[in-house]
Amino acid sequence: MTRRLFVTTALPYANGSFHIGHIMEYIQADIWVRFQRMQGREVHFVCADDAHGAPIMLKAQSEGITPRELVDRIAAERPKYLEGFHVSFDHWHSTESPENTELSQDIYRKLRAAGLIATRTIEQFYDPVKGMFLPDRYIKGECPKCGAKDQYGDSCEVCGAVYSPTELKSPYSTITGASPVMRESEHFFFSLSDPRCVAFLREWALDGRLQPEVANKAREWLEGDQQDGSSTGMADWDISRDEPYFGIPIPDAPGKYFYVWLDAPVGYLASLKANCAKRGLDFNEFIAPDSDVEQVHFIGKDIIYFHTLFWPAMLKFAGYKVPDRVHVHGFITVSGEKMSKSRGTGISPLRYLDLGMNPEWLRYYLAAKLNARVEDVDFNPDDFMARVNADLVGKLVNIASRCAGFLVKRFDGQLAAIDHGAHEGFAKPWSGPEAVAALYEQREFAKAMREIMQFADAVNQYVDAEKPWDLAKDAARTADLHRCCSTALRAFRDLVLLLSPVLPSLTDKVRAFMNLSATDWDALATPLPEGHRINAYQHLLTRVDPKQLDALFEVPADSAPSQTPSTAATAASKAQSGSSKAAAALPEGTISIDDFALVDLRIARIVSAEQVEGSDKLLKLTLDVGEARHRTVFSGIRAWYQPEQLTGKLTVMVANLAPRKMKFGVSEGMVLAASASDDGGGVFLLDPHAGAQPGMKVR
Ligand code: 2FM
Ligand code: ZN
Repeated sequence: MTRRLFVTTALPYANGSFHIGHIMEYIQADIWVRFQRMQGREVHFVCADDAHGAPIMLKAQSEGITPRELVDRIAAERPKYLEGFHVSFDHWHSTESPENTELSQDIYRKLRAAGLIATRTIEQFYDPVKGMFLPDRYIKGECPKCGAKDQYGDSCEVCGAVYSPTELKSPYSTITGASPVMRESEHFFFSLSDPRCVAFLREWALDGRLQPEVANKAREWLEGDQQDGSSTGMADWDISRDEPYFGIPIPDAPGKYFYVWLDAPVGYLASLKANCAKRGLDFNEFIAPDSDVEQVHFIGKDIIYFHTLFWPAMLKFAGYKVPDRVHVHGFITVSGEKMSKSRGTGISPLRYLDLGMNPEWLRYYLAAKLNARVEDVDFNPDDFMARVNADLVGKLVNIASRCAGFLVKRFDGQLAAIDHGAHEGFAKPWSGPEAVAALYEQREFAKAMREIMQFADAVNQYVDAEKPWDLAKDAARTADLHRCCSTALRAFRDLVLLLSPVLPSLTDKVRAFMNLSATDWDALATPLPEGHRINAYQHLLTRVDPKQLDALFEVPADSAPSQTPSTAATAASKAQSGSSKAAAALPEGTISIDDFALVDLRIARIVSAEQVEGSDKLLKLTLDVGEARHRTVFSGIRAWYQPEQLTGKLTVMVANLAPRKMKFGVSEGMVLAASASDDGGGVFLLDPHAGAQPGMKVR
């Protein structure tokens, strides 16, 4: 029977653009899905925007728009990325949708009917000015241990202490600045501590369906083992939030909404339901508890808890089908450094596409690094260029570009008889299509790529040994030329089919150029027959250009040293579009004092300055800005300054510029310099008068 699959990736929050971490997950899932489709399986691959929650509500308010307008704006930019990286979702939906409201409320009602919803009164911080309960992330105050100011409610960035928001000294709401007060409210809980839930989860999470390291995590949570040997077990889950909240109303509970994490995974089903409606399929067949459709979720390691405890238990006790597998991946790092969602560092996927970089380079590079374990994947620019150029251009495309021309010019594009001996030789150094299929199935993509490249190596060695370019010069060896080029191109077709889940666009080009009628996995069993005719070779793939990679990581325009403070202020005011309304009333070309105040200018001491290997533009500055730690700033001033001229000098920096991941590391601000608009005549760092101290505010 044909396997049927319902596959999802995690739903991205609808308050920001995709970052490279999202794209990696989509590429991983897409490769797996395309492989399944090649195997003739029925796949329904869906995703949606995760639209609800306090951050989206507050961001929309700060922009003077409704949450729905914000969500719609973000949704509108999704296709550019998805099409750009060839991610083949069947449907993209939103958790702010009738399907999701209906399904979330249905699940809730069924859990309530099963006796698994409890209510309890809890005390929480409340912002009396804003009139809302404060999620922890909106509370700051002084660290109860070291007294450092402006620390978040969970831990201190200065001394590393961990505590709860109620322990902060002089707490304040980051939304209004008001002192929060403790207030009581009734909350709804999903009774995960109920023995039925615990028994089910033990069975579900520990029966071998999860990756071993994920199952271990789930076991720890389920047992709640403490270091002293005692066991706390599962805690109930708070699933309600009080108004104002952007979410789905809880039935029969005026003013209460589902916490975003309750309705987010339900969005998987909402998207599937909308997809079923689009295609005339019966949604109930997919969600019935005994459905034969395999339900598979691709997620990152930060959201295992929700997907291995809450989500399966919700489905189980609401009488729905439970997930068959949760495929967890690690994070993507860039040159070994963690990228952060909140700091927005990393490679910009849109910049990658805008620079004309081939999406299949990234797809292949990630495939060559991904495995089935929960390991981080590093994007290293030099490794990326070397790997893509060596494998895709040097090994794969090289076969066709060396052989197709002769076949078309000399043999009317028709393949000679099959050379069984040569093909048997190619089969030796790798483990064959079935083994590669098993590796794709297990998400061992890196191993699959290695196998395929061993096959490609064998074919290239054959072409190198046969030397078609020499054969072509010898009229007596025409048949050998024909045999050699036909053999290499047959193998090339097989290589392309094997790589097709990773390289869909290249496969399309090859399908056209080689007149392929079948490109599913089964086609690998049948070599192209004698007389099969190919068309003229068309260009398939270029090499990675180092200039493109430099551009991907280059100093962004908004931190170029030649930028004046006023343009930086305008950029900041644009970024904080909350103030753009006020700015609209100002004379053209001016900013308000509030706009200017957005830019945190500080005196910085240049502790050290170094040249940056591989860059002729940058100096790496280590700056003392009166903080507990030093900052690193990359500045494009190398042409104008020797490092030793700068050490010990004071200058002015923008201290609240969002950190930017660059090719050589993260830049945490920018130093200010004066220059003519074209930098002609030099660039001059600002130099404060004597008496200024690191960390002083410039205003
Ligand atoms: O962590 C996140 O980005 C969440 N928006 C993921 C939600 S996954 C699913 F449950 F919807
Ligand atoms: Zn502290």
